[in-house]
Amino acid sequence: MYTTPFLDLPPLLHAAGTVRLPGSKSISNRVLLLAGLAAGTTVVHDLLDSDDTRVMLAALRDLGCDIDSRGDTVRITGLGGRLRNRDARLFLGNAGTAMRPLTAALAVLTATQGGRFELSGVPRMHERPIGDLVDALRQLGCRIDYVGNEGYPPLRLTAGSGSVRTQAPIRVRGDVSSQFLTALLLGLPLVSGIGPVVIEVEGELISKPYVEITLNLLRRFGIAVQRDGWQRFTIAQGSAYVSPGDIHVEGDASSASYFVALGAIAATGQPVRIEGVGLDSIQGDIRFVEAAKAMGADVRSGPGWLEVKRGRWPLAAIELDCNHIPDAAMTLASMALYAEGTTRLTNIASWRVKETDRIAAMAAELRKLGAQVVEGADFIEVSPPARWRAAAIHTYDDHRVAMCFSLAAFNALAGADPAVPVRILDPRCVAKTFPHYFETLFSVVQTATSHVPVLTVDGPSSSGKGTVASAVAQALGYHFLDSGAVYRATALAAMRAGVTPADEARVAAIAASLDLAFEGHSIRLGGEEVADQLRDEAVGAMASKVSALPTVRSALRELQLSFRRIPGLVADGRDMGTVIFPSANLKIFLTASAAKRAERRHKQLISKGIPANIDSLRADLEARDARDQNRAIAPLKPAEDAVLLDNSDQTIDESVNEVLAAWEQRRPF
Ligand code: DC
Repeated sequence: MYTTPFLDLPPLLHAAGTVRLPGSKSISNRVLLLAGLAAGTTVVHDLLDSDDTRVMLAALRDLGCDIDSRGDTVRITGLGGRLRNRDARLFLGNAGTAMRPLTAALAVLTATQGGRFELSGVPRMHERPIGDLVDALRQLGCRIDYVGNEGYPPLRLTAGSGSVRTQAPIRVRGDVSSQFLTALLLGLPLVSGIGPVVIEVEGELISKPYVEITLNLLRRFGIAVQRDGWQRFTIAQGSAYVSPGDIHVEGDASSASYFVALGAIAATGQPVRIEGVGLDSIQGDIRFVEAAKAMGADVRSGPGWLEVKRGRWPLAAIELDCNHIPDAAMTLASMALYAEGTTRLTNIASWRVKETDRIAAMAAELRKLGAQVVEGADFIEVSPPARWRAAAIHTYDDHRVAMCFSLAAFNALAGADPAVPVRILDPRCVAKTFPHYFETLFSVVQTATSHVPVLTVDGPSSSGKGTVASAVAQALGYHFLDSGAVYRATALAAMRAGVTPADEARVAAIAASLDLAFEGHSIRLGGEEVADQLRDEAVGAMASKVSALPTVRSALRELQLSFRRIPGLVADGRDMGTVIFPSANLKIFLTASAAKRAERRHKQLISKGIPANIDSLRADLEARDARDQNRAIAPLKPAEDAVLLDNSDQTIDESVNEVLAAWEQRRPF
């Protein structure tokens, strides 16, 4: 999709339709690790494909697991508790769900079987604490060194005495991150051979639902853990991971939160249906649904699905202890933009040690939109904007910040006038858990056509407008309309039907019933791929003639207008800025000279092995220009407010950059 470092969301008005969630990150990485440690082969279905699962899979491969990936199904033959590779450097990106459990499992494996491992990640990973886990593992006798800063990755694990001490309970802090306890629970069955292993939690355990996921999945792999309150966990003596054979990963409940919120905010007719997770989910974040209901969502659920509509409007402000839904609670902060009054989210200190300091990040970015925000060490208070502002949202390499702020595009529903677009910076950071988040969002949201931005690129034949416009569309992540191809397709269809331009009525009828589908570089006419044929000189000549017929032009108008869809459109042709999209946000008119264009066309043809004469090419172009310029209807001419761009001496990249720069100037960010 987009190659610019941002994605602009136009003001959005409505939501309805069905989305399928990607697999849960928490379940995916736990299942991968358990399958990697177990004996035998596990087939994991509906696995999340994301940055965090990719680093886990790569690490398991490096450790010697046999892995065969096919789409979202992965077959893993595990180590059966025996290290195959005793020396590896594992890069774990920014995946806490890989770093913490792998540290625990590998620490006890190296202590008992020997080896040397280094675990590192991206710079932010090296700022995320791991000292409490290392302290716990050192009680067992594991040798773990900090390669960089004390208390943080990267870590080096080296061989110990050949055994570990499991007689005394292992103590671990539970009030910074529950992932330390999860890591021990996942890894310590490896050393339960000589007796039960007891883990004692110090301090109030946070994020308990994630520990429940861990216990649930351990059970699926044959390991029973006895839990006494949330203070003491006992792994039975002789516990061994047994592969369940096949295992399915639920849809991600945290990812569901954006679509639950979407339904609550904007589904005023049909609901937003979310497939992959239901209220029976084992993920704690499913309880986000209760909070969303308290704010006004109207939710129905069945096994593996949710349907959400707007209930109360405006939403109700709430005060909530969010300890049980730390990740999904961020979505409540976005919903607060649409609430009556001040929403207060408490007990969220763990936000400060996640992908970024999430309290600071949410506060700063919500303020950019105009919201009033108060933040404390472990809480945030959000009151909706009195006046909305268009904002470029910094996302801090945090997928959840990016997804949360997409919901701000519905500001018109909160009375923003004018409605403002929202720019998401570094949108690709959603790949951590939901690589196709924005595409999925766009498939279930609607807006007024007038809110969808349009950029037009008009100009004469062979001016390079198609190439420039399609590159600009790709950079912005916008749809692309090659209107010349629409006329060429009409010409081809007419030629095939044996209809001449003299028979205007029949050509217009063909134009009106054109079955044309564009997808990437493919153009299908009546199901048949015709992209190459449309470039034929004969088809071009016919197109030039049929495009001069007024009834043909009006027959093709609706089709061209239908390309104006979320998140935006770049359209190229002759009359995009003058006739079809007269209110376009930016109109470019290319003015390369006929001599230059003939030269380019000549080069193009020669490179394809087609003989060509530069003078006759130039004469042809001039004749076509004259025909396009002098026809009575929609003649080729720049719109009054067009930006003229003489690209005679520019490379395509230079032109694209110039167009993007002009676009930037028109944007309100
Ligand atoms: O840009 P092109 O060469 O693919 O266009 C083919 C013909 O269609 C060209 O002769 C002009 C005509 N055309 C038009 O009249 N209006 C447009 N918006 C696009 C193309």
